Amino acid sequence: MTEQSETQQRPALVVDFGAQYAQLIARRVREAGVYSEIVPHTATAEEIAAKNPVAIILSGGPSSVYEEGAPRLDPAVFDLGVPTLGICYGFQYMAQTLGGEVANTGLREYGATDAVITGDGGTLLAGQPAEQNVWMSHGDQVAKAPEGFEVLATTEATKVAAFANEERGFYGVQWHPEVKHSDHGQRVLENFLHKGAGLASDWNSGNVIAEQIERIREQVGDARVISALSGGVDSAVSTALVHKAIGDQLTAVFVDHGLLRKGEREQVEKDYVESTGVRLITVDAADTFLGHLKGVTDPEDKRKIIGREFIRAFEKVQLDLVAEAKASGGAPVKFLVQGTLYPDVVESGGGAGTANIKSHHNVGGLPDDLDFELIEPLRALFKDEVRAIGRELGIPEAIVGRQPFPGPGLGIRIIGEVTADRLEILREADAIAREELTKAGLDQEIWQCPVVLLADVRSVGVQGDGRTYGHPIVLRPVSSEDAMTADWTRLPYDVLSKISNRITNGVRDVNRVVLDVTSKPPGTIEWE
Ligand code: XMP
Repeated sequence: MTEQSETQQRPALVVDFGAQYAQLIARRVREAGVYSEIVPHTATAEEIAAKNPVAIILSGGPSSVYEEGAPRLDPAVFDLGVPTLGICYGFQYMAQTLGGEVANTGLREYGATDAVITGDGGTLLAGQPAEQNVWMSHGDQVAKAPEGFEVLATTEATKVAAFANEERGFYGVQWHPEVKHSDHGQRVLENFLHKGAGLASDWNSGNVIAEQIERIREQVGDARVISALSGGVDSAVSTALVHKAIGDQLTAVFVDHGLLRKGEREQVEKDYVESTGVRLITVDAADTFLGHLKGVTDPEDKRKIIGREFIRAFEKVQLDLVAEAKASGGAPVKFLVQGTLYPDVVESGGGAGTANIKSHHNVGGLPDDLDFELIEPLRALFKDEVRAIGRELGIPEAIVGRQPFPGPGLGIRIIGEVTADRLEILREADAIAREELTKAGLDQEIWQCPVVLLADVRSVGVQGDGRTYGHPIVLRPVSSEDAMTADWTRLPYDVLSKISNRITNGVRDVNRVVLDVTSKPPGTIEWE
């Protein structure tokens, strides 16, 4: 648990009332150039004050304020003198706590709703269209604003859809300004932050880099540091950031488990090393991994084996480096870099008093006799911020712009046993799909597009003059904001057709391409 802030910056605090929106709000606040952090609603006023917040935003939540066990916030938070914005449940909670009234009138609003601005709209809504489309999701209403509050907007079902007490710096909206479906949502947040709370827009990737470099140098001193590169965005950026801070005190390790995509190893060994100057050791472990995967078809078994072998391969290099440092009398190897991101910290209960939902291990367990301290330079950041920093550090676009790719790699995209031959087939098909999606300019539209080989399935086909009996390839293009939920992407038919033609004509043993049209839930993004 960390009580202190993740950075030197004073944060705008987002109080999480249990909605899935808290992280989205925190991201939107940062998009407005203001550093933000999330705290659970169980944090006391004292704990909140200790973070020295410049603003507070109360998130939405699934409950009714008068329900027994509904999430509460220490009312003393309203006495801290910090500008506060309530959203949805947070708006109702604010209304009730400050002496207004919340009622269940039986009038619910879900989805797109028309909000009408009353008067000049105050700090939050001034200068915006008198009628706007906003995204609602509530059963209760604020029936009466607290004493001293002015009503700023109404809807057909809600007489008090937004309010403010400008003098005390209190604001609230019933709708969700953080979702893109609310027409002027981002402006509402910006008005609150910049005008209501008087905050400058000064949180950007340049500041983060400078601050982290200073922090890393202080933490590391003259010790040596190891980092595991996976080819993915997070490890590439965290490694480059640490390298920028301490240069060759850092050694990066890249385990080639043979389950990589076409060109990935070259990308890391050549392009990444050239652009960053990082000293890299590659471990050639493809044969070992394939040996252990022989005859294995169960997805969980595959995942366990790949995870275990990864740790073994990485451990071996660690031990070698530690021994080498000892033998040469050089500085000891004391630190390990991890690309932990802010959503991992929040979900692992990193904030004061948060429940531990799930623990994340990016590198896995370390052997007992190696006592490393962790360096986690991305702990305060969201994925889009990590990409921006990677670009600023000069990492090639092919790496910072990469789709998410699972740790177990192509091993969990072959349904059936993983063999060198099958990997070769999948690698070719995957490369074609990626190339065509990029060529069609669709990389921004999709979150990722796993390409899956149904190695244990065969179907009859006809190619040239002959009958074929080959395998199907599945395309799984998905759109998502955070991979927790996803929808299948409606790719243009001509792009699908191009991919299908190229794969069936150019990849041996594949005579059929099929499209996965399942959302998540119920289907996960990966097939295994
Ligand atoms: P699922 O398949 O659960 O995946 O919908 C959600 C997101 O996580 C990625 N994924 C992984 N990433 N190690 C990782 O680092 C893994 O073992 C792993 N399994 C799935 C997946 O690609 C998607 O982006």
